[in-house]
Amino acid sequence: MQTKHKWRTEMKDRLKELSEDEKSKYDHQLLEQLFTYEPYKSANTIGLTIAMKNEVDTRKIIEHAWSVGKKVAVPKCHPEDKTMTFRYLTSWNELETVYFGLQEPKPEVTEECSPEEIQLLIVPGLLFDERGYRIGFGGGYYDRFLQHYHNSTVSLAYDIQLVKELPVEPFDLPVGALITDKKILSFT
Ligand SMILES: Nc1ncnc2c1ncn2[C@@H]1O[C@H](COP(=O)(O)OP(=O)(O)O)[C@@H](O)[C@H]1O
Ligand SMILES: [Mg+2]
Repeated sequence: MQTKHKWRTEMKDRLKELSEDEKSKYDHQLLEQLFTYEPYKSANTIGLTIAMKNEVDTRKIIEHAWSVGKKVAVPKCHPEDKTMTFRYLTSWNELETVYFGLQEPKPEVTEECSPEEIQLLIVPGLLFDERGYRIGFGGGYYDRFLQHYHNSTVSLAYDIQLVKELPVEPFDLPVGALITDKKILSFT
């Protein structure tokens, strides 16, 4: 089986090849499904990352969540120990650009949100398999966080990011459900 590194490189290339039109069509289909997904509808607080360019656009989710009165928490990464803490985001002004163009909440103007306060966590990833295992960007941040997070998880991905079986290491933790532009898979 190919290594995680090879999977990541290949998928990053495939995602870059998606045209703007394809991407926005898939994003739209995906978000329609998320917004009618029961665990999303019933969550008062959601946790999610601010997406990078080739990922499913999570800014639209944040706008939607705010508009229906949900609280939104976004992660701040701590590279020294590769952990992250979530902080409540109430306006776009509370973000700042850190390393690699990544956007994170400004600690001076945001409150910390503990893992128990998040009712639905949207877990990012590059690849997913039919058991809910994922390959992320290689930092292991979510594997560490998921050890201490016990509420619902869901990932969003384009159909091309779903494969039959990925390599799994002992610390890899699966997500509870996956929403693609074509279907919803539930693993629990
Ligand atoms: N729970 C954990 N505790 C300590 N280190 C971890 C944990 N989870 C993952 N790691 C470390 O993080 C690194 C990246 O994990 P990996 O699964 O390859 O990345 P990703 O999940 O982002 O695709 C691994 O080399 C592993 O040693
Ligand atoms: Mg992992």
